Amino acid sequence: MKWLKNVLLAVVLIRGASAQSYLSPCDLALAKDGQTLYIAAATGRQVLCFSLASRKADQTIALPGEPTGLVESADGKTWYVSGGGHQGRIWKLEEGKISGEIKTGHTPMAPTLSPDGKTLYVCNRFDNDISFINLENGETFARVPVSREPVAADLTPDGQTLFVANLIPDGRADADYIASKITAIDTQTREPTTIPLVNGAEGVRGLKISPDGKYVFATHLMARYLVPTTQLERGWISTDALSVIRVEDKKLLYTVLLDDVDQGFTNPWALGFSPDGKTLVVSSAGNHEISLIDLPAMMQKVADETANSASATHLDAHNNLSFLSGIRKRIKLDGNGPRSLVVDGEFIYIAHYYSATLEVVRVSKDGNTRRGSFPLGSKQPLTPERQGEIYFNDATLCFQNWLSCSTCHPDARTDALNWDLLNDGMGNPKNVKSMLLAHETPRAMWLGVRDNAEAGVRAGIKHIQFTVRPEEDAQAIDAYLKSLKPVPSPYLENDELSEAARRGKVLFEELSCASCHPAPLYTDLNMYVVGTTKGQDTGKPVDVPSLVEVWRTAPYLHDGRAATIHDLLRTQGHAGILKETATLGEEEINDLAEYILSL
Ligand code: HEC
Ligand code: HEC
Repeated sequence: MKWLKNVLLAVVLIRGASAQSYLSPCDLALAKDGQTLYIAAATGRQVLCFSLASRKADQTIALPGEPTGLVESADGKTWYVSGGGHQGRIWKLEEGKISGEIKTGHTPMAPTLSPDGKTLYVCNRFDNDISFINLENGETFARVPVSREPVAADLTPDGQTLFVANLIPDGRADADYIASKITAIDTQTREPTTIPLVNGAEGVRGLKISPDGKYVFATHLMARYLVPTTQLERGWISTDALSVIRVEDKKLLYTVLLDDVDQGFTNPWALGFSPDGKTLVVSSAGNHEISLIDLPAMMQKVADETANSASATHLDAHNNLSFLSGIRKRIKLDGNGPRSLVVDGEFIYIAHYYSATLEVVRVSKDGNTRRGSFPLGSKQPLTPERQGEIYFNDATLCFQNWLSCSTCHPDARTDALNWDLLNDGMGNPKNVKSMLLAHETPRAMWLGVRDNAEAGVRAGIKHIQFTVRPEEDAQAIDAYLKSLKPVPSPYLENDELSEAARRGKVLFEELSCASCHPAPLYTDLNMYVVGTTKGQDTGKPVDVPSLVEVWRTAPYLHDGRAATIHDLLRTQGHAGILKETATLGEEEINDLAEYILSL
């Protein structure tokens, strides 16, 4: 019977290693008592209380959904934890238990507290707005619209202005200037001001205001999307940056590159300041590193550069890969996926998303550093899906660590840019595709130049990362991408089609959209000449894209020329096919758009 026991054990082990058994810490904060780190564990669906004295997580608080961020109340009695995905919530934690909850928008993130402790600001990532919540009665008294996918925020120390990082650009992708925005919201008038970043800036993950309240720092990628992807040297395809915005006049001062000439600082993410404001700490989630930057020295260089440059406009691309040389120290970490950090005196605490470890870096006055790592939970065996996710986000697999798959496919979706990959010739850029359902909808690539997504994955490793990896690595990436689940659309009402979307569904069928875009994949897996191609692609058939999660993947069409579904239906069309939509009235177009955006 021993063999039976072993078989059963094996089954239990494989079953046991589900997504939920990984912790995936995504945010951490030091309690006001200075003794405990509170750590939000995304897929672990819990908050861990890590004692600095015993150096272990000695309490965990289970949550009904995945958390994204947390903040402590002014009196230190309550923690507000954002999470719950499309059923967005702020969970209130008191004395180690959930003591209440507040409803928010779709995928709430980055909860931020006003200095008087009475108002909570929350980024609703997929509703593209910010909730203003009165904590005395739990009511949301305002929703302020921002640009697209707000994921990080910070408030000036006087509570006047909330700065918000929008992850990816809005607008069409076939333009000469495309960038993510920072939004500054006056908390009194609730008036938003848009601050566009430099051309190619996208993937904004971190945002923090300096302790003196004078500057905003935002971490992001600098996509060199205007050049063909022929090489990686000197950040030819992608660089990594830190934008500096002056709070007083909400002006973008400068964009500093975080890379070195022959070494990327890829997928920069979390930020922190030493209490004296002299050191800025930035993490690279792709390279598993932090940088310690001499902040006064950097600001002096920024001042010199902006004084000397006659054309310091936001349209300038900043190409200086040696800007930080001599004024920053790069520290390689042991863990994998440093997406959150907090600085306390000489100590920097870093929570690693993939290795589920807390790494402590101690920087002594003479500049020497010491490191130690502590597990946050028991070690879990890696499923192929999890291993693939780690590879997909890991830039250390790439030549000189310049990029990971997630650099262009954030969260395995799209960065909203066009790239001139060499898979189908040069001079014909294509909009980045989402990985959702890629393996179920062969062929792959807009023009179907790869037989299937498996071929696309291997081509990506070889021709975009310029590397050679064992076949098992590619198979793990396949497994990860196959495991992706669609996120419910923000256009649904209680998980159902709205009335307008139901009318739109009828139109979708009447106009025979469903002939090429049939449920459940919303593609018939064929290729058609639909008259959208131009230049060297003129007359070529295009692979019918799936419409699942299309609410999330703007801009549309193979060259990203349609900024919105309305644009697509009204002006950009695709083919003679959409001729019929020209006869539709305003309301019918709205209904049809509402339906498509609900899929
Ligand atoms: C420089 C940006 C960039 C990087 C980095 C990148 N991709 Fe892509 N990816 C694209 C673009 C652009 C397309 C669409 C190209 C086309 O249709 O011709 C695409 C398409 C794909 C597709 C086809 C999806 C479909 O449904 O047709 C797959 C699969 C894919 N990428 C996998 C990967 C993997 C795996 C990596 C990492 C090894 C990676 N990509 C890295 C830009 C990138
Ligand atoms: C003959 C097949 C066919 C029919 C009929 C058709 N489509 Fe499409 N659809 C396509 C193809 C092919 C593309 C890709 C075109 C391109 O990228 O240039 C596309 C692209 C789209 C996109 C953009 C998706 C994205 O991710 O960029 C949307 C939205 C869409 N179609 C909606 C519709 C609607 C609504 C109708 C009915 C009014 C319709 N389609 C009818 C073949 C078809």
